[in-house]
Amino acid sequence: MSQVMHKVVIFWSIGALLALDECFFDGCRCVKNIDYSYDIICVNQNNSLFPKRLKSNITRTINTFLLKQYLFTEIPDGTFQGLAIRHLIIGENRLKKIGPDTFRGIKSLSLLKIIEKNFETIDLGAFDPISYYLSELGIWQINYQSHKIDEFFAELKKLKSLKTLSLMGYGLKQFKPEWTTIFESIVHLNLASNEMKSIGPDIFKSCKHIESINLNNNFMSNLSSIFRALEPVKSKLRELKLASNQISQLKDFSAFARLEALDLSNNQIKKIPTGLLKGLDKLNSLYLSSNLIRSLPDSLFSSVPALSILMLDNNYLSTVPSVRTLSNLKILDLSNQNGNLKELEDFLFERANSTCCLYLNLDANRIEKYGKKTFCSRDSGLSEIRKLDLSYQSMANMDHCLLSQLRSDMANKIEFYVTMESEISKESTVSCNCELKSFLKSLKIGFIGPCSDVAGPCNEYQQTQQCDKQFQC
Ligand SMILES: *[C@@H]1O[C@H](CO)[C@@H](O)[C@H](O)[C@H]1NC(C)=O
Ligand SMILES: *[C@@H]1O[C@H](CO)[C@@H](O)[C@H](O)[C@H]1NC(C)=O
Ligand SMILES: *[C@@H]1O[C@H](CO)[C@@H](O)[C@H](O)[C@H]1NC(C)=O
Ligand SMILES: *[C@@H]1O[C@H](CO)[C@@H](O)[C@H](O)[C@H]1NC(C)=O
Repeated sequence: MSQVMHKVVIFWSIGALLALDECFFDGCRCVKNIDYSYDIICVNQNNSLFPKRLKSNITRTINTFLLKQYLFTEIPDGTFQGLAIRHLIIGENRLKKIGPDTFRGIKSLSLLKIIEKNFETIDLGAFDPISYYLSELGIWQINYQSHKIDEFFAELKKLKSLKTLSLMGYGLKQFKPEWTTIFESIVHLNLASNEMKSIGPDIFKSCKHIESINLNNNFMSNLSSIFRALEPVKSKLRELKLASNQISQLKDFSAFARLEALDLSNNQIKKIPTGLLKGLDKLNSLYLSSNLIRSLPDSLFSSVPALSILMLDNNYLSTVPSVRTLSNLKILDLSNQNGNLKELEDFLFERANSTCCLYLNLDANRIEKYGKKTFCSRDSGLSEIRKLDLSYQSMANMDHCLLSQLRSDMANKIEFYVTMESEISKESTVSCNCELKSFLKSLKIGFIGPCSDVAGPCNEYQQTQQCDKQFQC
């Protein structure tokens, strides 16, 4: 059982105006923001234990305070004395615990992220100074086997304003029922990248305000038991993430009537039940990437009129599912159907009452056959595609006159992106040539990607391809 380790990105918000010569902390960089707050960026370069504070009186708000790669195991008491901090990010140091006086004297703190390998616990009383301020807490890599783990959860309970909680422990196997009272105020809960095989039926019982739950990247396989746990929150959830688990059997999500985003990618799903999306009229993003799906029920998408993002990449589809009812669809990803998608018929991407502008990704397929009206829509007499990605092979197999269906006026620029598998030799790039380039230019289609780079210098006024009427929409 291997787990995809998500790379943790330590970031700070942008908007920086100017760096100061002298910073409040030794060896750090201080940057003044547009709103006169400061960012303090401390990245250890000198094997130091902790950056020394140079100024005792810092009255301006600190937008982001980053402490990275120092050797400390604990933060010196009084470090944050008198500071009003929005975002405190502590990462890649040797921090073991938050001590009782770590936050002593702090004026405010709204977001705390701790990304540490050796983090063990939060001492009793440590969160008292921030208990009414902290709205977002993210902790990576806590030791759930530690005998102090109950103390840790008892301390989390004190956070009265906490709305967003991420506990991405790479180690949480079972969530104890007595810990779940911390969920009462939580709106966004993230328990991704742990080692949970199942979740208890009562885990979400105390969630009163929950809107999104992220259980990505665990080892869960039984959707029935997940549904049982979600029973108390099913009518509240707007986002549910179950990607990168071991789910093979799906159930209908119709009870999750407020759902806007559902992520089931990277599981072992073969069969999609007909009623999977019944009644989900708010659903706008559906992720089914990287499964074992060979076909989809005919009218699967007729009950999700709000759908705008549909990810079906890396499956085994041999036909394009009907998207006719998806008038709000903006992104359709059908890339990499593992060699199964070989043929595109007429009018496959037309939508009734479309609000325009579809990004269609067909990359990493090898399409051999096209209908003469593949990209046309009967309603509008045009194509609704605004960006099209194709592999070199699919493009080489295509009568380029089909591309005239993508013709645009200047206001609505269309992009055509052609990738090239690295093993393709120079000789086989014959289709990426000057003629194609100027043909696309005459249609006002922006040509991008490696294929457009291969095309050599070109006389712009060369004759462009004459296309038969049968390709017109
Ligand atoms: C690193 O140490 C040297 C010598 O002690 C000092 O001059 C320099 O300012 C230090 N750099 C930082 C970033 O602390
Ligand atoms: C801190 O700075 C503020 C404003 O600049 C000033 O009013 C106050 O007296 C200073 N406090 C100390 C202890 O220096
Ligand atoms: C899945 O969970 C449900 C509900 O908890 C249980 O009744 C069922 O036996 C489980 N199925 C498997 C295969 O473990
Ligand atoms: C398209 O819009 C028309 C007029 O508003 C409506 O009658 C028709 O049912 C719509 N079609 C679809 C498939 O939504």
